[in-house]
Amino acid sequence: MILPILSYPDKRLRIVAENVKNVDDTIKKLVSDMFETMYDSNGIGLAATQVNHHIRVIVIDISQDKSQPLCLINPEIIEKSGEISLEEGCLSVPDYKHFINRNDHIKIQALNEKGKTFKIEANDLLSVCIQHEMDHLNGILFVDYLSRIKQQRLLKKIS
Ligand code: NI
Repeated sequence: MILPILSYPDKRLRIVAENVKNVDDTIKKLVSDMFETMYDSNGIGLAATQVNHHIRVIVIDISQDKSQPLCLINPEIIEKSGEISLEEGCLSVPDYKHFINRNDHIKIQALNEKGKTFKIEANDLLSVCIQHEMDHLNGILFVDYLSRIKQQRLLKKIS
Protein backbone atom coordinates (compact mmCIF):
# COMPACT_ATOMS: atom_id res chain seq x y z
CA MET A 1 0.00 0.00 0.00
CA ILE A 2 1.39 3.40 -0.98
CA LEU A 3 1.27 5.82 1.93
CA PRO A 4 0.84 9.61 1.69
CA ILE A 5 4.10 11.50 2.37
CA LEU A 6 4.05 14.61 4.57
CA SER A 7 5.52 17.72 2.95
CA TYR A 8 7.62 20.45 4.53
CA PRO A 9 6.70 22.62 6.40
CA ASP A 10 4.08 20.23 7.89
CA LYS A 11 4.51 20.37 11.67
CA ARG A 12 4.05 16.61 12.00
CA LEU A 13 7.54 16.26 10.47
CA ARG A 14 8.79 17.78 13.77
CA ILE A 15 7.45 15.02 16.02
CA VAL A 16 10.23 13.01 17.69
CA ALA A 17 9.66 9.31 16.98
CA GLU A 18 9.50 6.70 19.73
CA ASN A 19 11.37 3.43 19.89
CA VAL A 20 9.68 0.33 18.50
CA LYS A 21 9.04 -2.01 21.43
CA ASN A 22 8.12 -5.09 19.50
CA VAL A 23 8.73 -5.89 15.82
CA ASP A 24 5.29 -7.40 15.26
CA ASP A 25 3.11 -7.85 12.18
CA THR A 26 1.96 -4.22 12.30
CA ILE A 27 5.58 -3.07 12.04
CA LYS A 28 6.33 -5.58 9.27
CA LYS A 29 3.34 -4.28 7.28
CA LEU A 30 4.52 -0.69 7.82
CA VAL A 31 8.03 -1.60 6.62
CA SER A 32 6.60 -3.25 3.51
CA ASP A 33 4.36 -0.23 2.79
CA MET A 34 7.29 2.14 3.34
CA PHE A 35 9.44 0.28 0.79
CA GLU A 36 6.55 0.37 -1.69
CA THR A 37 6.04 4.11 -1.07
CA MET A 38 9.76 4.89 -1.36
CA TYR A 39 10.18 2.92 -4.60
CA ASP A 40 7.01 4.45 -6.05
CA SER A 41 8.47 7.93 -5.45
CA ASN A 42 11.94 6.96 -6.75
CA GLY A 43 13.44 7.79 -3.36
CA ILE A 44 16.52 6.20 -1.78
CA GLY A 45 15.33 6.53 1.82
CA LEU A 46 12.17 7.06 3.84
CA ALA A 47 11.58 7.48 7.56
CA ALA A 48 8.32 6.49 9.26
CA THR A 49 7.93 10.12 10.39
CA GLN A 50 7.43 11.12 6.74
CA VAL A 51 4.40 8.85 6.45
CA ASN A 52 3.01 10.13 9.77
CA HIS A 53 4.05 7.11 11.86
CA HIS A 54 6.09 8.42 14.76
CA ILE A 55 8.18 5.37 15.52
CA ARG A 56 11.86 4.70 14.81
CA VAL A 57 11.69 2.89 11.48
CA ILE A 58 13.72 3.68 8.34
CA VAL A 59 13.89 2.08 4.92
CA ILE A 60 16.74 2.68 2.47
CA ASP A 61 17.84 1.44 -0.94
CA ILE A 62 20.63 3.34 -2.68
CA SER A 63 20.93 0.85 -5.55
CA GLN A 64 19.80 1.68 -9.09
CA ASP A 65 17.75 -1.49 -9.43
CA LYS A 66 15.98 -1.80 -6.06
CA SER A 67 18.29 -4.67 -5.15
CA GLN A 68 19.62 -3.50 -1.76
CA PRO A 69 16.66 -2.94 0.57
CA LEU A 70 17.81 -2.01 4.05
CA CYS A 71 15.49 -1.64 7.03
CA LEU A 72 16.71 -0.04 10.27
CA ILE A 73 14.54 -0.15 13.38
CA ASN A 74 15.62 1.80 16.49
CA PRO A 75 18.94 2.70 14.80
CA GLU A 76 21.77 4.06 16.94
CA ILE A 77 25.07 5.52 15.78
CA ILE A 78 27.86 3.80 17.71
CA GLU A 79 30.80 5.27 15.77
CA LYS A 80 31.24 8.22 13.46
CA SER A 81 34.19 9.89 11.78
CA GLY A 82 35.31 11.88 8.78
CA GLU A 83 33.52 14.50 6.78
CA ILE A 84 31.56 14.46 3.56
CA SER A 85 29.28 16.85 1.73
CA LEU A 86 26.77 15.50 -0.78
CA GLU A 87 23.84 17.12 -2.51
CA GLU A 88 20.75 15.94 -0.65
CA GLY A 89 17.09 15.90 -1.51
CA CYS A 90 14.06 14.66 0.40
CA LEU A 91 10.67 13.24 -0.55
CA SER A 92 9.17 15.67 1.98
CA VAL A 93 10.86 18.67 0.30
CA PRO A 94 10.10 18.13 -3.41
CA ASP A 95 12.20 19.78 -6.10
CA TYR A 96 14.87 21.05 -3.75
CA LYS A 97 18.48 19.97 -3.32
CA HIS A 98 21.37 21.26 -1.30
CA PHE A 99 24.84 20.19 -0.17
CA ILE A 100 24.93 19.21 3.53
CA ASN A 101 27.94 18.38 5.71
CA ARG A 102 27.79 14.98 7.42
CA ASN A 103 30.09 12.34 8.85
CA ASP A 104 31.57 10.21 6.07
CA HIS A 105 31.86 7.02 8.10
CA ILE A 106 29.35 5.66 10.59
CA LYS A 107 28.71 2.43 12.41
CA ILE A 108 25.09 1.70 13.29
CA GLN A 109 23.36 -0.78 15.53
CA ALA A 110 19.72 -1.48 14.77
CA LEU A 111 17.04 -4.13 14.55
CA ASN A 112 16.10 -5.54 11.17
CA GLU A 113 12.54 -6.14 9.96
CA LYS A 114 12.61 -9.50 11.74
CA GLY A 115 13.49 -7.91 15.07
CA LYS A 116 17.08 -9.16 15.04
CA THR A 117 19.92 -6.89 16.21
CA PHE A 118 22.63 -6.20 13.65
CA LYS A 119 25.45 -3.77 13.01
CA ILE A 120 26.32 -2.07 9.77
CA GLU A 121 29.21 0.15 8.71
CA ALA A 122 28.59 2.72 6.03
CA ASN A 123 30.33 5.49 4.20
CA ASP A 124 29.67 7.83 1.30
CA LEU A 125 26.08 7.92 0.00
CA LEU A 126 24.78 5.14 2.28
CA SER A 127 26.18 6.87 5.35
CA VAL A 128 24.67 10.21 4.32
CA CYS A 129 21.33 8.56 3.61
CA ILE A 130 21.22 6.85 7.02
CA GLN A 131 22.10 10.10 8.81
CA HIS A 132 19.45 12.00 6.80
CA GLU A 133 16.77 9.44 7.67
CA MET A 134 17.81 9.26 11.33
CA ASP A 135 17.41 13.04 11.50
CA HIS A 136 13.78 12.61 10.37
CA LEU A 137 13.14 10.41 13.42
CA ASN A 138 14.27 13.33 15.58
CA GLY A 139 12.07 15.82 13.72
CA ILE A 140 15.01 17.30 11.82
CA LEU A 141 15.01 18.06 8.08
CA PHE A 142 18.07 18.62 5.91
CA VAL A 143 16.91 22.16 5.18
CA ASP A 144 17.30 22.96 8.90
CA TYR A 145 21.08 23.04 8.26
CA LEU A 146 20.72 25.85 5.72
CA SER A 147 21.14 29.52 6.46
CA ARG A 148 18.03 31.42 7.58
CA ILE A 149 17.94 33.29 4.29
CA LYS A 150 17.95 30.09 2.25
CA GLN A 151 15.21 28.61 4.44
CA GLN A 152 13.07 31.73 3.98
CA ARG A 153 13.62 31.62 0.22
CA LEU A 154 12.57 27.98 0.14
CA LEU A 155 9.43 28.64 2.21
CA LYS A 156 8.50 31.48 -0.11
CA LYS A 157 8.99 29.28 -3.16
CA ILE A 158 6.73 26.49 -1.88
CA SER A 159 4.00 28.62 -0.28
NI1 NI B 1 14.20 13.11 3.81
